[in-house]
Amino acid sequence: MHPRWAGRCESCGEWNTILEETVAPRPGPAAKGAGRPVDFVHLDGSAELPPRCPTGIVELDRVLGGGLVPASAILVGGDPGIGKSTLLLQAAAALARTGRRVLYISGEESIEQTRLRARRLGVQDTPLELAAAINLRDIAASLRTPGDTALVVIDSIQTMWLDSIDSAPGTVAQVRACSFELIQLAKAGRFAVVLVGHVTKDGAIAGPRVLEHMVDAVLYFEGDRGHQFRILRGVKNRFGATDEIGVFEMTDRGLAEVANPSALFLAERHGNIAGSAVFAGVEGTRPVLVEVQALLSPNPAGQPRRSVIGWDGGRLPMLLAVLEARGGLRLSATDVYLNVAGGLRVSEPAADLAVAAALVSAATETPTNAGMIYFGEIGLSGEVRQVTQVDARLKEAAKLGFVQATLPRRIARGNRPPVQPNGLELTEIGHISDLVGAFPRE
Ligand code: TYD
Ligand code: MG
Repeated sequence: MHPRWAGRCESCGEWNTILEETVAPRPGPAAKGAGRPVDFVHLDGSAELPPRCPTGIVELDRVLGGGLVPASAILVGGDPGIGKSTLLLQAAAALARTGRRVLYISGEESIEQTRLRARRLGVQDTPLELAAAINLRDIAASLRTPGDTALVVIDSIQTMWLDSIDSAPGTVAQVRACSFELIQLAKAGRFAVVLVGHVTKDGAIAGPRVLEHMVDAVLYFEGDRGHQFRILRGVKNRFGATDEIGVFEMTDRGLAEVANPSALFLAERHGNIAGSAVFAGVEGTRPVLVEVQALLSPNPAGQPRRSVIGWDGGRLPMLLAVLEARGGLRLSATDVYLNVAGGLRVSEPAADLAVAAALVSAATETPTNAGMIYFGEIGLSGEVRQVTQVDARLKEAAKLGFVQATLPRRIARGNRPPVQPNGLELTEIGHISDLVGAFPRE
């Protein structure tokens, strides 16, 4: 809290990061006895969850946990231009086509612009109801008698404006107040409301992060604008599992669902190149194979560079240190570039072994076996640790024609052996030196 303007934040030391937020004077504390007592109930009783309403876009429904939940609020965040409006117009149109009432309120684009987009997406003939508006008082008036509305899309929450708040659209105060109002309307009218929010790379101060705790589900739409792949990732879901992903491909006619992401992520792989290894990952319930690429370049004089795209940048120095101390690989005078091909962001520790394989392959200038996949976590003493969902990873690898897998050694303690899918030869290793030993020495 700052009572007056300040240029520099005292807690993080950054300049120009403090946002002004005026606090409206509140009516005094409620008079004694003015509240109505709340009802308490027993734990044992009706616990029926409301039926879900699938949008018809399978990749979206999976991330939502099976479809939209009535009377819930969903935040869809992402970089500007990543495809949020496209995704939601497609989803809204698909739902409207099933006969449900769907409202799409655009505060960013005119009716004409949205109609043009609809035409491009081939959804112009759906009975979707479209409006261009930013005044939340007007919007609220139209949502108070929602009829049998199933879904209301607000694109975007940063353009909405409540005249009782004395600040501009997009400020924390406006975003928060407008969201609160819309969420109340959704609960009262039993429809699902989707709030679209732009997130900017530099932290999104006035962005949707402030309302993550207000909504029931938070989905982030990610991707690299240079790539056609888009990943919809669930980061919060009160009604289902998080960490699910939906995979899309941006085409000139909108977003196409990608039913088999592994094939897509591996499509451009060239077999015989040193510094490449295939990681058998799992995103949510879904196995995804991706290529990890490493490039080394000698840098004897300066501070060596470590550059990472698509993986946890903090884990690379740790892995390099382990490879050096426990695997005997010398990488301290070498620039290291690491890339997860295709634009997917991998956060599983299970990727360690694939990253290590790509690094050792690059260091020894020996390609990994083209039919090999890797997964396993690596600890500080060089041990290769167990990871979850071994069967799902192996099955996906076999499905895509891989014939070998390098994975953590099973420990005796009652660990069920992994199912061995047809044609997959398993190499279980317990230490990073086993991995290094599989490549010829320099
Ligand atoms: P958009 O949905 O407007 O992004 P957001 O709402 O997240 O800001 O998507 C904009 C980008 O998508 C733009 O660069 C053009 C591209 N695009 C396509 O490639 N194909 C299409 O069919 C559409 C509608 C957009
Ligand atoms: Mg948009």
